[in-house]
Amino acid sequence: MAENMVEVIGAVKKFKDVVALNDVSINFEKGKIHGIIGRNGSGKTVLFKTICGFMKLDSGKIHIEGKEVKPTTNQEIGLIIEEPGFIDSLSGYKNLKLLASIRRKINDEDIKKAIELVGLDPTTKKPVKNYSLGMRHRLAIAQAIMEKPRLLILDEPMNGLDKSGVIEMRQLFKRLKEEGITIILSSHYAEDIEALCETVCEMDNGFLVKVQ
Ligand SMILES: Nc1ncnc2c1ncn2[C@@H]1O[C@H](COP(=O)(O)OP(=O)(O)O)[C@@H](O)[C@H]1O
Ligand SMILES: [Mg+2]
Repeated sequence: MAENMVEVIGAVKKFKDVVALNDVSINFEKGKIHGIIGRNGSGKTVLFKTICGFMKLDSGKIHIEGKEVKPTTNQEIGLIIEEPGFIDSLSGYKNLKLLASIRRKINDEDIKKAIELVGLDPTTKKPVKNYSLGMRHRLAIAQAIMEKPRLLILDEPMNGLDKSGVIEMRQLFKRLKEEGITIILSSHYAEDIEALCETVCEMDNGFLVKVQ
């Protein structure tokens, strides 16, 4: 049997009168691309935040590679939840170099490789303010993968992209999967991810159902 990267076991998260996660249980196998679809407000971002340990569950558990996620654990997950802020006047490379200096886990070569992997040019001096939306998305993904996480969580990575941008992202995610990264991503458009994802779940009002 395939190993699980993430196990969500009876996860419950409430905010006053809103039940954002209503007894959610799901396993995400290693080495695959998993998709979560669902309307705005259905609970996708809350699920991702609890998987990362940014948000505490009211009850239930989440395991990553067999270890329970605690709010204090420094999970090594590549993550994009909201549009990351870059410094507009700097190049993509300089932005990532600045961010890499926080954890000091990787060197310049690793940063360049991540930028190349997403199909951008690490040598360009072009400032981020002149990037297209698709290029910004790529840079955000380069940032999320540069420290070589084994799990990559992408919250609505197709948002705002045109058709060709969505196709490019799909190709990129397949390439990352080939690098051995497990990916979980969300979208409110089923068609954006159905062709790409090996498993698809739907969140609906805090409930999660498997559709594929
Ligand atoms: N920090 C919070 N405080 C109060 N309510 C929240 C908070 N975060 C999310 N919610 C609520 O939980 C529900 C699920 O939100 P979310 O996971 O962001 O939905 P989605 O990502 O699917 O659009 C929504 O009703 C939202 O208003
Ligand atoms: Mg969301």
